[in-house]
Amino acid sequence: MTDSALFCLCRAGFEPELAAELSERAARAGHPGYARTQRNSGYVEFVLEDAAAASRALPWSALIFARQKLVRLADLRGLDPSDRIAPMLAALDAVGGAGLNVSSFGELWVEHPDSDEGKPLAGLARSFGNALRPALRKAGWLSKHDDPSRPRLHVVFLAGDHAVLAMSEPLDSAPWPLGIPRLKMHPDAPSRSALKLEEALLTLLDPEERERRVRDNMQAADLGAAPGGWTWVLMRNGMKVTSVDNGPLRQALLDSGRVDHLRADGFTWQPKRTLDWMVCDMVESPARVAERMATWFRENWCRQAIFNLKLPMKKRWEETRICLEAFEHQAHRPLIVRARQLYHDREEITVFATPR
Ligand SMILES: C[S@@+](CC[C@H](N)C(=O)[O-])C[C@H]1O[C@@H](n2cnc3c(N)ncnc32)[C@H](O)[C@@H]1O
Repeated sequence: MTDSALFCLCRAGFEPELAAELSERAARAGHPGYARTQRNSGYVEFVLEDAAAASRALPWSALIFARQKLVRLADLRGLDPSDRIAPMLAALDAVGGAGLNVSSFGELWVEHPDSDEGKPLAGLARSFGNALRPALRKAGWLSKHDDPSRPRLHVVFLAGDHAVLAMSEPLDSAPWPLGIPRLKMHPDAPSRSALKLEEALLTLLDPEERERRVRDNMQAADLGAAPGGWTWVLMRNGMKVTSVDNGPLRQALLDSGRVDHLRADGFTWQPKRTLDWMVCDMVESPARVAERMATWFRENWCRQAIFNLKLPMKKRWEETRICLEAFEHQAHRPLIVRARQLYHDREEITVFATPR
């Protein structure tokens, strides 16, 4: 019998951060448990009494280090490569018998962790998905057509003979396989960092907010802007940008007529009037950046912000928590704060904030 557990995917190397985050948040929500992790595996299992209830108490969108959040149904080891399907159907029947509250799933995703060990399983995941789908439909476990209103079934391969069977609620989980939004680097983008801000706008705002909050002719500041990836994203969204950095910006941005380049210190520069947006990607200690970001909200210099906190130190979960708490406290006003380690983030997290 498989323990009741949440099964979460993360950036390889960030398992301790996700384990600490889950432990702390689950305990606070009244669902104490313990994490099982392996460094660089790209996933964390969090064992607790009632994973389904804990999952409802820990929304995916509020988790910083989880790319994906699943409720584990079965842990299948020693799978025979000549027939991996029969044990999966048997496992589903067994959990179904134990009161699984699902008559059939709306979709099947076959995945693997985004780790050195997991990536070579991509081919198996693809071909196995094609084989399992019709078998699930025949057994009545999968709807005939994709149905996002029903829970999703996940098979996560950890090795050729080891798979985790799990489920997610489409409205409370990442809408991308592996929890990875696939964004293409635009040939005109001045830097790969552009993808970070694009992903932040995609994942930290919902579609209605994007429409309302990201508009033509808005005024924005970009602190630590060079060579200009974030400025370019703001400009492409129709904004006028003041780009603050002592380093050079791409000429095309300056030629656009929508960008002012200020060679100034992003920690002391302030706008003359309230801006629609401030974004910040300065490489500095997260505590110092968080404090400066709080000043912007305290002084009402911007209506909303997206900023990056670099986390090069050891206790990255603790540092994250301390910096976000200090940010909210020092802003002296109630804020909506959403933070996430994006796929395009490395040793860092990205934060969206706006007054409530
Ligand atoms: C990671 S890069 C920013 C990349 C940029 N977001 C992009 O998309 O191209 C960090 C930048 O922060 C700038 N920076 C660091 N400290 C700064 C400060 N005190 N004031 C202004 N810029 C600063 C650096 O010059 C560097 O260009």
